[in-house]
Amino acid sequence: MPLLSDPLVVYFSRSGNTESVAERIAERVDADVFEIETVQEYPENYDELLDYARNEQRSAARPELSEHIDDIERYDVIFLGYPNWWGDMPMPLYSFLDEYDLSDKTIMPFVTSGGSGFSRTIRSIESEEPEATVLDGLSIRDRRVHDSSTDRAIEEWIEDSGLF
Ligand SMILES: Cc1cc2nc3c(=O)[nH]c(=O)nc-3n(C[C@H](O)[C@H](O)[C@H](O)COP(=O)(O)O)c2cc1C
Repeated sequence: MPLLSDPLVVYFSRSGNTESVAERIAERVDADVFEIETVQEYPENYDELLDYARNEQRSAARPELSEHIDDIERYDVIFLGYPNWWGDMPMPLYSFLDEYDLSDKTIMPFVTSGGSGFSRTIRSIESEEPEATVLDGLSIRDRRVHDSSTDRAIEEWIEDSGLF
């Protein structure tokens, strides 16, 4: 029997890497999935996206989210996934953490990146949600997202959590 029930996988992804990991986590633990999306769309062009994201970060923007969760109360475990953008979470993650109170929930963070991993984002999540329990995170390199080693890493990470 699982110790906790009703996990939710929350993710933000622009080029599909984090989404791919999110989908595999959701399949493994039979979770609902919520994609963080913004009213203002991000540039398709990569260089423009880099600039746009850096400006958002510099201005500590809180982009408006276009989708919302009605019943966050019913979830015990929140898998929270995002790409590393300029050494931080994309700013829509901060919008998400502002909008929802995750006190008393367990957060399992996962990141995809070109190699920076989490940078300081675990501490940022902890300071945004001081009453949540933040477990060890899963970090995947973008070039490895589709490798079978990533499937094994997801499996081990979930097993090691002791929650499923
Ligand atoms: C705006 C932007 C900034 C990025 N900054 C970093 C970074 O600081 N360190 C890093 O390792 N990768 C960085 N990357 C690479 C992404 O983290 C990586 O490709 C990620 O897997 C993309 O996830 P996605 O496909 O879910 O959007 C950056 C990518 C973008 C678009």
